[in-house]
Amino acid sequence: MTQQSQSQMDAPMVETEAKPGDGPVILGIESTCDETAAAVVRGKQLLSNVVASSMDEHARYGGVIPEIASRAHAESFVPVVSKALADANMDISDVDAIAVSAGPGLAGCLAVGVSGAKSLAWSAGKPIYGINHVIGHVGVTQLQFGDLPEDTLALIVSGGHTSLLRVRNIATDVQVVGSTLDDAAGECFDKVARLLGFPYPGGPYIDRHGQQGDPTALKVPMGLTQGRAGAEHPYDFSFSGVKTAVARWVEARRAQGLDVPVDDVCASLAHSVATVLSRKAIDACKRFDSHTLIVGGGFSANSQLREALAQAGRTAGIDVRIPRIALCTDNGAMVAMLGSNLMQAGVAPSALDFPIDSAMPLNRVSMS
Ligand code: KG4
Ligand code: ZN
Repeated sequence: MTQQSQSQMDAPMVETEAKPGDGPVILGIESTCDETAAAVVRGKQLLSNVVASSMDEHARYGGVIPEIASRAHAESFVPVVSKALADANMDISDVDAIAVSAGPGLAGCLAVGVSGAKSLAWSAGKPIYGINHVIGHVGVTQLQFGDLPEDTLALIVSGGHTSLLRVRNIATDVQVVGSTLDDAAGECFDKVARLLGFPYPGGPYIDRHGQQGDPTALKVPMGLTQGRAGAEHPYDFSFSGVKTAVARWVEARRAQGLDVPVDDVCASLAHSVATVLSRKAIDACKRFDSHTLIVGGGFSANSQLREALAQAGRTAGIDVRIPRIALCTDNGAMVAMLGSNLMQAGVAPSALDFPIDSAMPLNRVSMS
């Protein structure tokens, strides 16, 4: 008998503790924007994860075209869901429930995913959860880091959202602590990137060029951090002033016939946005006595933000959990994981006639 199995016998509690793979099998389906995605989760264990993106089809328009994205979802739904089940060695009869993003997102895109998921649920006789996509970005971290502590705070940053959430119980108790009053962080990066001539989505280009530039070259404002506005909105964000300041600076250089130092512009923008996001998120953790900060959404791939948060978390003694990039961007695993949380918490499934909600409030975890 080895040392390890001996100690397991001495401590029978270990045998009865929940393992990540204990729990219901959930098929998660995502179609809020330009990714058609499906995944299978058992408990907190990821069994498969399939993503098809229509991003390339939008690039020449400089942004996501809802009609094109909806059509792409209609094309990809069956292949993506079939592959997610096949990769997990399952068919629909092995699944305990289906979860699908019901909002927030583009209405036509949501309609495709929700209609497909409802048809599957109805024909296979399975319960269905219409879940909140943004809260899915919080839930997905459990696949990498394990359970969420009760005092969790979450910073969700994407092309459409910049929000601070207080998550006491991911299935039943999520509150909005702050959000952007205008542009989301990703939207701000995409708009500046367009001005600099980068293709859509421009966020990753700003990131890469910013790594080689001087972050102090331009004085970029830090929205809602100072004076009365800062005091009135301690946990809200504003990025439209940031975008305008950078645009004016670039246009003035061009008007004078001067070169635009692209790396410096990117570095200064990235520094301003990463500083504001990390400072406000850590301040909110202190205010709400949270020792865990979850970070999610496509923009959390940003290297300047990841570094600023890791450093601020170390200084403040806060456990900052930023998942690997594939779990930051939109995927089916986030939907399946939240479905698993809902089912395990005993939350009733959604009625089969639940609607989509393109502006689904962030304190609503699922549709009734
Ligand atoms: O969550 P997401 O995949 O889709 C939604 O908007 O819901 O986020 C996409 C956003 C885009 O604005 C994109 O430019 C931005 O995330 N993004 C980044 C990086 N990677 C993606 N922004 C800055 N740095 C990055 N490395
Ligand atoms: Zn998202």
